[in-house]
Amino acid sequence: MYRIAAIGGDGIGPEILAEGRAVLDAASERFGFDIEWVECEIGAERYLKTGELLTEEDLSTLRECRAIYFGAIGDERVQPGVLEKGILLALRFHFDQYVNLRPIRLLEGVTTPLAGKTPADIDFVVVRENTEDFYVGIGSRFTGHHQKTSLDVMRELYTIRFGLDVESDADEIAYQIGVISREGSRRVIEYAFDLARRRRQKLTSVDKANVLSDVYGLWRDVFSSVAKGYPGVTTEFNYVDAVTMWFVKNPEWFDVVVTPNMFGDIITDLGAMIQGGLGLAPGGNINPVGTSMFEPIHGSAPKYKGMGVANPCATIWAGALLLDHLGEHDAAEAVIKGIESAITARAITRDMGGELSTHDCGSWIASHVKKANI
Ligand code: IPM
Ligand code: MG
Repeated sequence: MYRIAAIGGDGIGPEILAEGRAVLDAASERFGFDIEWVECEIGAERYLKTGELLTEEDLSTLRECRAIYFGAIGDERVQPGVLEKGILLALRFHFDQYVNLRPIRLLEGVTTPLAGKTPADIDFVVVRENTEDFYVGIGSRFTGHHQKTSLDVMRELYTIRFGLDVESDADEIAYQIGVISREGSRRVIEYAFDLARRRRQKLTSVDKANVLSDVYGLWRDVFSSVAKGYPGVTTEFNYVDAVTMWFVKNPEWFDVVVTPNMFGDIITDLGAMIQGGLGLAPGGNINPVGTSMFEPIHGSAPKYKGMGVANPCATIWAGALLLDHLGEHDAAEAVIKGIESAITARAITRDMGGELSTHDCGSWIASHVKKANI
């Protein structure tokens, strides 16, 4: 019995998550395991009613679960950043989900905007660091000439305190500090090497060490030292600007790509497009020894809320990553096959050129998974 927390979140989140859950339930029936769902009312609706983002009670409920299945966050009634930082990033940090795993894979039957590329050409994985870099939340904005603040990064791995005493004669300034640590980068780079070893033995590191030479200089040093332990894996460094070009020009070059947090955010939206669009791109926030969380890469698309047009495939695929994480590999494979079959049979939503509603697309995949022949 797996106890899984379900957080629908905002916008189209609850609708797509409902389909993902139905598919996972179908997989559990077919492959002989049980899922107990724990519903969590976390998101904009509750925040607007009570002012609560994440409570101690939420965290202890989630801690009791084997994994978290997440819809989407973001609501136009709330200032940008409040829900994103107060819920999604807070969960990633709290549960120390230091790996953000984002497969970029062109499924059979999907059209990529890259002319002439086939599923054999687009099949790599981005391993995005998920707790550091410019995401640590250290920054400020002020108009006076002097500001003294103390800002902390509290992690399971370490605590960093910045005592900042800033003087300026500019009209207004804002700054944001990126943090990379040796232990924080080592663990995610090791994860990427382990993954590359199980795949095609090739690992690309992404950075901007030619300009942001302190943070990404450390990243590079750690990458080089970890590489010594994996002599069978071919490695390379790419600057982030160049990597965006190569993703488009020669996606077949890549096997596993490891990247600091912010560049990982950016290049995986590009990755999503080359694999057929955001409607198809899943992600896993993984703590290999803790509570992991699975979600589509796309956002909550509030303008489509309740219209039944959202594509549930990214969420369903994220569900396959969740099953894989639980060790239910056959079930995970069956779910991906289910998505592929839906695409081949044109049982898809309008964004992909089909005619089905969110629910009908989800049900089609669920019934396919129930009959899976693996
Ligand atoms: C993502 C999203 C998030 C991020 C936002 C919603 C905070 O863009 O998961 O890629 O920047 O990590
Ligand atoms: Mg993003």
